[in-house]
Amino acid sequence: MAQGLLKVQVRAHSQYPGLSQSFRLTKGFLTMLFTRCRFIRHCLFTALLAGFSLGVHAHGDVTPQAVDTTGLQPLGEAWKQANPYRGNKKAIEIGSSAYNQNCARCHGLEAISGGIAPDLRLLPEGTEGDEIFAMRVRNGAVRDGRVYMPKFEGILSQEALWTIRAWLDTVREQ
Ligand code: HEC
Repeated sequence: MAQGLLKVQVRAHSQYPGLSQSFRLTKGFLTMLFTRCRFIRHCLFTALLAGFSLGVHAHGDVTPQAVDTTGLQPLGEAWKQANPYRGNKKAIEIGSSAYNQNCARCHGLEAISGGIAPDLRLLPEGTEGDEIFAMRVRNGAVRDGRVYMPKFEGILSQEALWTIRAWLDTVREQ
C-alpha cells in the first residue's frame, strides 16, 4: 500500500516536475506569512498599547492626586459661594502642592500658563473669581464630547479645591 502510494507520487513528480517545486514554494510562502504575521501582530499590539496610553494622556485623564486637608475646617456637602479659606496660611500651603499635582500639567507650573490652558493668575479677585473658579473645577470643560478640562467634583474634595483657589490668590497678576 505504502509502496503503491510512493509509486504514484514518484510518477506524479516525474510527470509534473513543477508540481513538487511549486508545493515547496507555497509551503515556504505560508511559513513566511505565518512568521511575518506573528511579527505584524506583535507590531499591531504594541502600536495599540502605545495608542491607548497616548489617548489617555490626550484626554487629560491622569490619575488625580489625593490632597490631605486635615487641619482645615471641614466644609460639608453643599458648595460654598465664596472661598472659605481665603488668606488661610495652612490652606495656601496645601493648595500650592495640590495645584502642582493636579492642575500644573495644563495650567503651567506656578500657574504661569504655557498657552495650553488659561492663565489662572488672571482670575478676578474675591467672590466673582471664586464663582468662576468653582463653576469650572466642578464641571470641567467638555464640548462636543471633547474633554478640554476634566471635572473635579467628586474627584477632589471641596476643601482641596478651595485650597487651590486660596493659593491662586497669592500669585495673582495685577
Ligand atoms: C487636562 C488639562 C487641564 C487640567 C488638568 C486642568 N485644567 Fe483647568 N482648564 C483647562 C482648559 C483647556 C480650560 C479652558 C476651558 C475652555 O476652553 O472652556 C480650563 C479652564 C479653567 C478655569 C477657567 C479659567 C477662566 O479664565 O475662565 C479654571 C478656574 C480652571 N481651569 C482651574 C483648574 C484647576 C484648579 C485645575 C486643577 C484642580 C485644573 N483647572 C486642571 C485645562 C485643564
